[in-house]
Amino acid sequence: MPQEVRGVVAKAKGAPVSIETIVIPDPGPGEVVVAIAACGVCHTDLHYREGGINDEFPFLLGHEAAGTVESVGEGVTNVEPGDFVVLNWRAVCGQCRSCRKGKPNLCFNTHNAMQKMTLLDGTELSPALGIGAFCDKTLVAAGQATKVDPAAPAAAAGLLGCGVMAGLGAAMNTGGVGRGDSVAVFGCGGVGDAAIAGAKLAGATTIVAVDLDDRKLEWAKEFGATHTVNSGTSDAVAAIQEATGGFGADVCIDAVGHPAVYRQCFEARDLAGTVVLVGVPRPDMTLELPFIEVFGRGGALKSSWYGDCLPERDFPMLIDLYLQGRLDLDRFVSERIGLDDVEAAFHKMEQGEVLRSVVEIVPGA
Ligand SMILES: NC(=O)c1ccc[n+]([C@@H]2O[C@H](COP(=O)([O-])OP(=O)(O)OC[C@H]3O[C@@H](n4cnc5c(N)ncnc54)[C@H](O)[C@@H]3O)[C@@H](O)[C@H]2O)c1
Ligand SMILES: [Zn+2]
Ligand SMILES: [Zn+2]
Repeated sequence: MPQEVRGVVAKAKGAPVSIETIVIPDPGPGEVVVAIAACGVCHTDLHYREGGINDEFPFLLGHEAAGTVESVGEGVTNVEPGDFVVLNWRAVCGQCRSCRKGKPNLCFNTHNAMQKMTLLDGTELSPALGIGAFCDKTLVAAGQATKVDPAAPAAAAGLLGCGVMAGLGAAMNTGGVGRGDSVAVFGCGGVGDAAIAGAKLAGATTIVAVDLDDRKLEWAKEFGATHTVNSGTSDAVAAIQEATGGFGADVCIDAVGHPAVYRQCFEARDLAGTVVLVGVPRPDMTLELPFIEVFGRGGALKSSWYGDCLPERDFPMLIDLYLQGRLDLDRFVSERIGLDDVEAAFHKMEQGEVLRSVVEIVPGA
């Protein structure tokens, strides 16, 4: 029987979001219904509402979530009802040319549920990043649900579903940060701070945090930054060189997604170092670099989708590190809110007041 639940919907470009009754079909083959326990508010949700991703309104927002599997469709073997799961937006196909080359983290054909969730009048919803989790329950492809240790609280675990995983993975997977490395992270929001935490976890000994906002720099220290630079008032490249014996950092991470920031990363990098772009540029942006330097400095210029994560490999491992006290996911949770508060959370995000607002769902509320 299809179920009617509450969900946060963006109906039109720029219009405030509203809580609507949404209809969740029973899971079909390869699908699961997950009862959401917590879902973080990510910039991408706001981008959807602003029409910045596409114009397939209405959107069911939310995609950084954890919850409990309620029911599974035919052929589902990776999870069963009652499992505590973190949702992901890159369920690998196992069959595309990247998967066949043994690189499922780069899968070119990730999938979502086949059936649509709808409004009461039958209007089909576009779920944000193929998830849609600011709601009591959601329908996803089974591969989008990754089982993790239920000892982790949902508000912390759900963060791995997007920005925090992207940042951790930008340092640990894409950047390949290792013991003794120096790392510079530009942009200390949730993604950048996660990159700092990931660099620390991977053994980096010098971690320079760069932001325009001194408050963000204070928070960055709590995640492991050894040095901080306000690039609005001082020269970030010079400061990074100074912190690294005059050379530059082994790995520079752009967690803003702006050409000027990317250029700073490029210049603040040591010879043979790595630049990682994890911030998402606007479609109209272009990049200019001195081409001889691209050659002369060697190393690698890389982009990081979702932190190059493989949810089945990384989510359970990161939750274990969290439970062992080695990865402080709770520190990203700035406030806990209800479904009614998503619009207000967007405003706080725009003002830079929060790292993550997390919606907690109280069953039956
Ligand atoms: N690659 C992925 O898979 C992935 C996943 C999630 C989010 N993202 C992207 O990562 C980026 C960061 O996300 P977030 O949630 O941390 O955002 P955020 O807005 O919370 O943080 C951005 C930070 O950058 C700082 N900043 C802005 N301009 C700057 C500049 N010129 N120099 C230095 N600092 C600057 C801001 O003060 C802020 O602290 C966004 O572009 C987001 O879309 C990427
Ligand atoms: Zn694939
Ligand atoms: Zn996101």
